[in-house]
Amino acid sequence: MCGIFAYLNYRVSRTRKEIYETLVKGLQRLEYRGYDSAGIAVDGPNKTTTEINNNSICLIKKKGKVKALDEELYKKDSLELDTELYTHFGLAHTRWATHGEPSPVNSHPQRSDKDNEFVVIHNGIITNYKELKEYLITKGYEFESETDTEVIPKLIKYVYDNRENDSVTFSMLVERVIQQLEGAFALVFKSRHYPGEAVSTRRGSPLLIGVRSEHELPTEHIPVQYNSSHLKEGVQEKNSHNRTDCPNAINSVGDGRPVEYYFASDASAIIEHTNKVLYLEDNDIAAVRGGNLSIHRINRQAGEDPVRAIQTLQMELQQIMKGNFDAFMQKEIFEQPESVFNTMRGRICFDTNTVVLGGLKDHLKEIKRCRRLIVIGCGTSFHAAVATRQILEELTELPVMVELASDFLDRNTPVFRDDVCFFISQSGETADTLMALRYCKERGALTAGVTNTVGSSICRETDCGVHINAGPEIGVASTKAYTSQFVALIMFGLMMSEDRLSLQTRRLEIISSLKVLPELIRKVLSLDEKIKTIANELYQQRSLLVMGRGYNYATCLEGALKIKEITYMHSEGILAGELKHGPLALIDKHMPIIMVIMRDACYIKCQNALQQVSARSGRPIIICCQGDSDVTKNAYQTIELPQTVDCLQGVLSVIPLQLLSFHLAVLRGYDVDCPRNLAKSVTVE
Ligand code: F6R
Repeated sequence: MCGIFAYLNYRVSRTRKEIYETLVKGLQRLEYRGYDSAGIAVDGPNKTTTEINNNSICLIKKKGKVKALDEELYKKDSLELDTELYTHFGLAHTRWATHGEPSPVNSHPQRSDKDNEFVVIHNGIITNYKELKEYLITKGYEFESETDTEVIPKLIKYVYDNRENDSVTFSMLVERVIQQLEGAFALVFKSRHYPGEAVSTRRGSPLLIGVRSEHELPTEHIPVQYNSSHLKEGVQEKNSHNRTDCPNAINSVGDGRPVEYYFASDASAIIEHTNKVLYLEDNDIAAVRGGNLSIHRINRQAGEDPVRAIQTLQMELQQIMKGNFDAFMQKEIFEQPESVFNTMRGRICFDTNTVVLGGLKDHLKEIKRCRRLIVIGCGTSFHAAVATRQILEELTELPVMVELASDFLDRNTPVFRDDVCFFISQSGETADTLMALRYCKERGALTAGVTNTVGSSICRETDCGVHINAGPEIGVASTKAYTSQFVALIMFGLMMSEDRLSLQTRRLEIISSLKVLPELIRKVLSLDEKIKTIANELYQQRSLLVMGRGYNYATCLEGALKIKEITYMHSEGILAGELKHGPLALIDKHMPIIMVIMRDACYIKCQNALQQVSARSGRPIIICCQGDSDVTKNAYQTIELPQTVDCLQGVLSVIPLQLLSFHLAVLRGYDVDCPRNLAKSVTVE
């Protein structure tokens, strides 16, 4: 998904080289989101600016990796790398193509015209770009890219060219532009008409601003200025509209003193510069002018908070670094003993066998009264819901629906006021999940988020929720978030059943198993070498089936997803109960197959499936409990795991498949952390 990074230094002297380095580093931190091209916009060097009075903007864009862009920067000896810039604003962007192929012209920043009067970086999709483009073409504007984004800089130039007078501020122009846009966006603008100024805004896509100052920040909160004007008319009328803007209204951060601002799609690009950040809300327009940051928006909505808080991020840089591992995904797989522990930390008291999820406890009565739980997510997050559905049904004694967000919306699923809807999302920004959340809210259901990203849209828009505390997940393929989501949902079930006498034995069994779970995860991770050997035998295959049932069906779905997304092998998670209804036709001695057979209520049925596979000369690799000779005697290979309570076994059984997919991808020569065509945070529907 596209990544936004921008850096403004105000009265803080930086060489051009330092500015490039900051911009490039910001993009590198966002690389994990997935992208196919990158670009930056900086002030042009003096010697090329004769016609535009030192305010020219220079664009450098490149298809491929950020590294290629970085190399390109240093090829341009006209860029005067040693020149000190006292105040400067630079934009940087990684693009994940949605409209138009990856190419320099389609990369961002997109520009208003050949003189780069306005340039913009965008994350999201403009759904009405065709209409806007047609309109602007009739007004004589020429388009050069295939992107939806290009209408934005053209539109701002159009508004600027038709401004009523010269007192129109940069943020006024942006406000007029965003009123015409439909779709989702986070935007940062730069203009040669407003040197040293920045304007950013968002609707539906995340954006935050980091603030670094030698001086103490004057306030922890920034008041938001509201305008009363409604500028609903067409573009042409808009330009002559009278409005009450607030060019100097807010002076909350900056005060004309030296300050640096960092704009980014997520905190990983900012944290090494400052831990003071401010998350923008939809329709906020944040402008930096004369070093001062102000925020305003059109019309105050009922119940809206009139301030934006500056938050202190707890995340540390080493948390997002790769450490000694070859890939972030590998590091994240091996972090699971700690990440799962952190999900439970301070929430489960093993002395009193109680579970308190602070973000849900005030809503517990209401949740207990609901008529059903709907658990919604996409991809891996959906699988965490599948994995815990059975135990949630048992512990909550409520009907539990699990839903893929996109399908849930496609079906216009009936939702009622007495439903409680859980939204599972690592990033907290997945567009389909967010849309489903808004859909459920509109229908009056209580909404709860289970996310890994503080301050994300899903966090902010749900009524309550659980933060899974797994730490930043950078590999595109989700691993530690899955096991932490799994554990968080089980903790919710435990909290719901605390006063159910009939469930106490079951609860105690689960709580005591949670206590030792990190240790058991460590034991599973120690099988890495064995799994690597199996990967060596399998990596040239085209296909890999993963079969199981009951509590371990989700393991099969999740394992198959991991395999397909990073190894590009065909892989399918098959419910063993469905074997006779079709998949058995695939089985012969050549088809690689993994079977998950654990000692739970489905054990005998899984053994039957194993017989059926063996009878067709299938040669299954079996994931089973340690020392289970009944099963291992029929196996081609075995991966033996420690046994735990049935409903937690899936946390352990998924790990060999995470490791296997990692080794397969490495052996096949693929980039494990950035699989082709995929993005970490899918902020488009
Ligand atoms: C797979 C994977 C995706 C995500 C899905 C939802 O490894 O990472 O399937 O799980 O895109 O993302 P979140 O959890 O951020 O909503």
